Amino acid sequence: MSSNKKLFIQTLGCQMNDTDSQHIQAELEKHKGYVATQNIEDADLIIINTCSVREKPVQKLFSEIGQFNKKKKEGAKIGVCGCTASHLGQDIIKRAPYVDFVVGARNISKIKDVVDVKGAVEVSIDNDESTYEFSTAKTNKYRASVNISVGCDKKCSYCIVPSTRGEEISIPPEMIVEQVRKSVEQGAVEVMLLGQNVNSYGRRFSDKREKYTFTKLLQDVSKIDGLERIRFTSPHPLHMDDEFIEEFAKNPKISKCIHMPLQSGSTSVLKTMKRGYSKEWFLNRANKMRELVPNLRITTDIIVAFPGETQEDFLDTLDVVEQVKFDQIFNFKYSPRPGTEALNLKDKELPDEIGSQRLIDLIELHKRYLEESMPKLIGETLNILVESLKPNGEVSGYTDNYLQVFAKGSDELLGKFVNVKITDVTRTSLKGEVVN
Ligand code: SAH
Ligand code: SF4
Ligand code: F3S
Repeated sequence: MSSNKKLFIQTLGCQMNDTDSQHIQAELEKHKGYVATQNIEDADLIIINTCSVREKPVQKLFSEIGQFNKKKKEGAKIGVCGCTASHLGQDIIKRAPYVDFVVGARNISKIKDVVDVKGAVEVSIDNDESTYEFSTAKTNKYRASVNISVGCDKKCSYCIVPSTRGEEISIPPEMIVEQVRKSVEQGAVEVMLLGQNVNSYGRRFSDKREKYTFTKLLQDVSKIDGLERIRFTSPHPLHMDDEFIEEFAKNPKISKCIHMPLQSGSTSVLKTMKRGYSKEWFLNRANKMRELVPNLRITTDIIVAFPGETQEDFLDTLDVVEQVKFDQIFNFKYSPRPGTEALNLKDKELPDEIGSQRLIDLIELHKRYLEESMPKLIGETLNILVESLKPNGEVSGYTDNYLQVFAKGSDELLGKFVNVKITDVTRTSLKGEVVN
């Protein structure tokens, strides 16, 4: 229908925000007749789904909505959703009066009610939408992304997320299983289960329930016929118990790539970060994973220059990086965030140059490791799930341990598992020839 109103969504932040944007889009399609557009000048409604985790994305928000306001067509509306919406609320409209409505990260189910209410602000972090049945929009044909919990009960001292997403509530397992089953019916072969701390899944539901764990959820989801690959993020190193690690190792549907957010390798920094584990515990968990899972890939998040971090502390981080041999590292320079406990350590904050130098050192060390390890894959034959075809005639897909591989191919390969003989590598991806 050409009379449909058009919606443009820009998403910042993490994978949960991506899923929230899919929900926003699908809810507005279903209840309000919007269709998605990639062209901002065409849009009747422009939404930005924001992230607050570091200062930069927040600054970006105000410059970006200013641009949107200039580009938008006459009469188009602007909405701000997500974590910065939760955290700044009404202040967003005060600072940018052309914003029509504000919807927090925990209020996404209200989107259909507020789009037509000028000045609406829905940002309560007590809102419980864990049993709301969201409509879903698909962005990847072969992979479904499913939220398994909302909020976070941890209080890592640097982190704003608990105050933007509120307390942790698990989405009932039968709703998750049903959603995955539906996605598989529609062609998905892989699922990504999402929560801020997936290992605490089942600790609190909206209603009273029997004990249920993340390990049990993995078992239940893996029973779905036609589902080939299960991924999840983020586990919390403190809560990765033996039962979970053993399930991870023996369940053939679970992708053998795990994100283990280290944050710091220094036990004393981890203590002020309130992470709840020591350097030794992290190494113990990583070693146990490596022992039980051949070809395991481990990715991580690291924050450098946390207040009070000495050079010795930083060397502990580098030591863990060397010992664990992470396959991918997301590095961040500490960014002070409003309302977090680490603000009490203001007098211990480090000069920016120290943070920049530590980032450089960390990246350099990791680069050397990848330059050594990746070429070892040349000549190997790896099995990949093909998920896209590029205009240059190359298909792209991921191995079971989530390495990206490119190869010449055609659309017939899409959604299939194929073997690729590796001929070329970069630090982050592989190239090869299809051999079956
Ligand atoms: N719940 C997830 C991650 C949430 S935020 C987890 O615990 O793994 C994603 C990443 O942003 C974090 O892992 C952390 O490395 C980084 N981060 C969070 N707050 C930050 C801050 N104040 N400064 C710099 N990086 C931060
Ligand atoms: Fe933030 Fe920690 Fe919760 Fe992750 S576990 S969202 S870092 S408070
Ligand atoms: Fe995600 Fe950013 Fe919020 S990382 S949880 S969108 S603060």
